[in-house]
Amino acid sequence: MKAIVRPRAARDLDALAQVLVRVHAADGYPVEGVDDPHAWLEPPRELASWTAEMNGRPIGHISLVAASTSDDAAAVWHRKTHGDLDTIAIPVRLFVDPDHRGIGAASKLIAASHAYATDRGRLMVFDVMEKDQTAIRLYEMMGCKRIGTIQHDAGDGTTHPAAVYEAPQAMQQPRS
Ligand SMILES: CC(C)(COP(=O)(O)OP(=O)(O)OC[C@H]1O[C@@H](n2cnc3c(N)ncnc32)[C@H](O)[C@@H]1OP(=O)(O)O)[C@@H](O)C(=O)NCCC(=O)NCCS
Repeated sequence: MKAIVRPRAARDLDALAQVLVRVHAADGYPVEGVDDPHAWLEPPRELASWTAEMNGRPIGHISLVAASTSDDAAAVWHRKTHGDLDTIAIPVRLFVDPDHRGIGAASKLIAASHAYATDRGRLMVFDVMEKDQTAIRLYEMMGCKRIGTIQHDAGDGTTHPAAVYEAPQAMQQPRS
């Protein structure tokens, strides 16, 4: 069975919030916790978001946001390139239901956000926690390159080692 990816609709949010709670229980993602899943699913500076669905049910999600000077990943990229932050976009809020992994849902979500960014002349730059090794493997398999490391501040007094990546212009496409 294959997942399909489409733009996220408002009606998806309740189901995605439930998926997110399961993901947090399984993987500790996001490190900030899931006290208010709906708010977390609609991040500031959102450019677009996508839902992966299977049999009509949301099973995964990704958002793409514009960069700001307060973003760790944007800061690392800017120090390296001195580039304009309006020329990058940051994929965030990527997760897939633990019961529907390994069938390419995340690869398709990443590809959809990458196509959107590329069509608008934006390079994808992002950070990923070092503990999220499945995500790191996937990004590297799709051709993303590590450009730095940071300590992510979870806002509760804890910090988490994370890596900053830049996606290639032409990304390795997911298996269909
Ligand atoms: C990281 C995460 C999103 C990956 O989701 P996923 O839908 O299972 O990812 P994919 O199926 O696209 O890829 C995962 C694996 O399946 C393989 N795969 C991809 N497409 C496939 C397909 N069509 N058929 C079979 N396998 C496939 C990939 O090669 C990859 O292989 P791996 O086992 O070497 O890692 C998921 O594990 C998750 O939600 N983790 C917790 C949250 C998290 O870490 N988010 C990332 C934040 S940056």
